[in-house]
Amino acid sequence: MPYSSAPSPFSPAAAPELVSPPSGAAKPRLTFLGTGYLGATYAICFAELGYEVLGVDVDADKIAKLSAGEPPFHEPGLDELLRANLAAGRLRFTTSYQEAADFGDVHFICVGTPQRDDGLSADLSYVEQAVTALAVALPRKALIVGKSTVPAGTAAWVQQLVDKHAKPEYEVEVAWSPEFLQEGHAVEDVLRPNRLVFAYESAWAGGMLYAAHKGVFDLAAAEDREVPVVTCNFATAELVKMAANSFLATKISFINAMSEVCEVTGADVTLLARAIGYDPRIGNRYLQAGVGFGGGCLPKDIRAFQARVQELGAGESLRFLHEVDLINQRRRTRVLKLAAQLLDRPFGPAGPDLSGTRIGVLGATFKPNTDDVRDAPALAVATLLHKAGADVHLYDPQGMENARTVLPDITYEPTMAAAVADSDLLCVLTEWTEFRNADPTVLGHLARAKVVIDGRNCLDPALWIAAGWDYHGMGRA
Ligand code: UDX
Repeated sequence: MPYSSAPSPFSPAAAPELVSPPSGAAKPRLTFLGTGYLGATYAICFAELGYEVLGVDVDADKIAKLSAGEPPFHEPGLDELLRANLAAGRLRFTTSYQEAADFGDVHFICVGTPQRDDGLSADLSYVEQAVTALAVALPRKALIVGKSTVPAGTAAWVQQLVDKHAKPEYEVEVAWSPEFLQEGHAVEDVLRPNRLVFAYESAWAGGMLYAAHKGVFDLAAAEDREVPVVTCNFATAELVKMAANSFLATKISFINAMSEVCEVTGADVTLLARAIGYDPRIGNRYLQAGVGFGGGCLPKDIRAFQARVQELGAGESLRFLHEVDLINQRRRTRVLKLAAQLLDRPFGPAGPDLSGTRIGVLGATFKPNTDDVRDAPALAVATLLHKAGADVHLYDPQGMENARTVLPDITYEPTMAAAVADSDLLCVLTEWTEFRNADPTVLGHLARAKVVIDGRNCLDPALWIAAGWDYHGMGRA
């Protein structure tokens, strides 16, 4: 394994020699298998970097939308890039794996790896389907690059699948390069990554992987930046992503645990976070206490990580992640308890009875600037309030369509004002700019009672209190 070397910062001299694409094209032609958040964003951004790109998905509706210039999800800046690159003829979408196999030199696996229904582990069935469908259809040598977040050992298993299904004479190879994009910031994260992690097992695979990223390096050079590259073996590449997400989840749960301590001691977690964040060893990012983390990555990744490491016999190493998960889940019930207390409803063994109350909820998505409601704390809290009998009226700038499919039984309001109107309690659960900038005096005239839970500590308490609101943040005395 000549290239499974120790981590090294990128320097052009250390990069393997670029190799010619098997298709005969001047630059490698790229396919992205799976056009969810990850695959669609990568496909569009790599077309923007000048590659010929084909996005592939089994979902014909999604492909039709993308082909018509509509991203199937909300991501700032993506619409314009999609339309520009479709128009430039560099970007196409298809449901055909045969077309992808015929077209591409480098195929990126971007399908989902959701939590399995029967446990904590990651469901690899979409990876298996995508790799198998591609491998049987390949007409020549190609490189298959894993991007999806996967358990340790997956890259080697993918190579076995490829060896089983692709014609041996093509010597199809596998590489791994995890992604780190954040929703709401995904375009920048792909065009200008803060690092790249490459795992490959031959000079040819390394050369092809660098050729497939030359656009990223060229853009960085044009902007006088460097993109650090860590070259490592398959296992390290798989673990990097899990480790990064575990660290972020731990940091958030740490500050949320402090928030619980602040509540019983009379301290203020926002000031505590600010004070410790000035220490550069700690840093001030990911120290925002509130209703906790959600989304399609952090919650499922810390669970899948624990499950895999348990299988490998080192479960105790990650036992703390179970606690990280528990702290995070407690944030959601904390809002329910606080709501019951503020509405003067006793919290019985089956939870509180909130019937007869009307609660305005602002926010459904797991964070702002996305329409993603997967494992969203806001929607989980709305569900708890609804189950406790409250009449929940919710507004979110982008997430209502997705929220409706997950939680159809509450009332969705077309505006923030309508959600606040006649409420006995207001819960702000996603920190959209629209909510941060809301005028508490105007909202105060609409509400039945001026009581607010700021589940993201995103409002200015002084302003809200001055407007007559009974303000309750998370972890703030
Ligand atoms: C995350 C990782 O950041 C990204 O690198 C990885 O590739 C995928 O998972 P994303 O899911 O888009 O990205 O969300 P992120 O911005 O990390 O936020 C995750 C959750 O944590 C959100 O619900 C957010 O509201 C919450 N969060 C974040 C906090 O509660 N407090 C914080 O201080 C930061």
